[in-house]
Amino acid sequence: MEILGIDIGGSGIKGAIVDTLHGILVTDRHRIDTPDPSTPEAVAIVVRQLVEHFNWNGAVGCTFPAIVKRGVVYSAANVDKSWIGTDAHALFTDITGLPFMVLNDADAAGIAEMGFGAGRDHKGIVMILTFGTGIGSAIFVNQTLVPNTELGHLEIRGKEAERRASDATRKRKQWSWEEWAKRVNEYLAHVEFLFSPDLIIMGGGVSKKHEEFAKYLKTNAPLVPAQLLNDAGIIGAALAARRWME
Ligand code: BGC
Repeated sequence: MEILGIDIGGSGIKGAIVDTLHGILVTDRHRIDTPDPSTPEAVAIVVRQLVEHFNWNGAVGCTFPAIVKRGVVYSAANVDKSWIGTDAHALFTDITGLPFMVLNDADAAGIAEMGFGAGRDHKGIVMILTFGTGIGSAIFVNQTLVPNTELGHLEIRGKEAERRASDATRKRKQWSWEEWAKRVNEYLAHVEFLFSPDLIIMGGGVSKKHEEFAKYLKTNAPLVPAQLLNDAGIIGAALAARRWME
């Protein structure tokens, strides 16, 4: 079954049509800059533009970089604060006339990696951590997602982890990979102490540079790069929409 996947991020909003049986994109990705300010109305217009770009007339799976429960957004760390309390599901359905399933971006990336990527067939506790504008997290226990875990907001030395160790912070501070990896190691040690994962999958914008920094990272559990790279959000959103419709 084909479903349009949309991945809403702090800097770009990307979409592609996904073959949900095989977990692959069947079209090129189309990307539009995230509007600034990223208000619900402005983002909804971009979502409609993506639907129109693909001439799409079916179900849509859509990620959002915040806590999302039953389609309603409950936080807004890297998007306009007016999202808090917004029913994203209703907003996108109204503006496009199509059925939408909206979920957290890291949860979507995790669903894709567990189904078709680095976590395929893995039992036990698997953590997906995405490093981009913020730090996203998804935890799977024997392949079942515990949604909205928000581990990018753990406090390390009195500061939110994603302010210390996200990829956006690395770029802003112009750190080398080694300097950034020191902060990431501190964060990973904390997360491992709290959750004792069996496998850590590192995703987000940095995943395509994995070989540059992997040598500096130290963990107890095996740490592997996300295999679906930046497509994980789009693919996971489409997979989640399919499950939601079944
Ligand atoms: C948000 C999470 C999101 C992560 C990655 C964090 O700031 O609170 O919901 O998954 O960024 O985008």
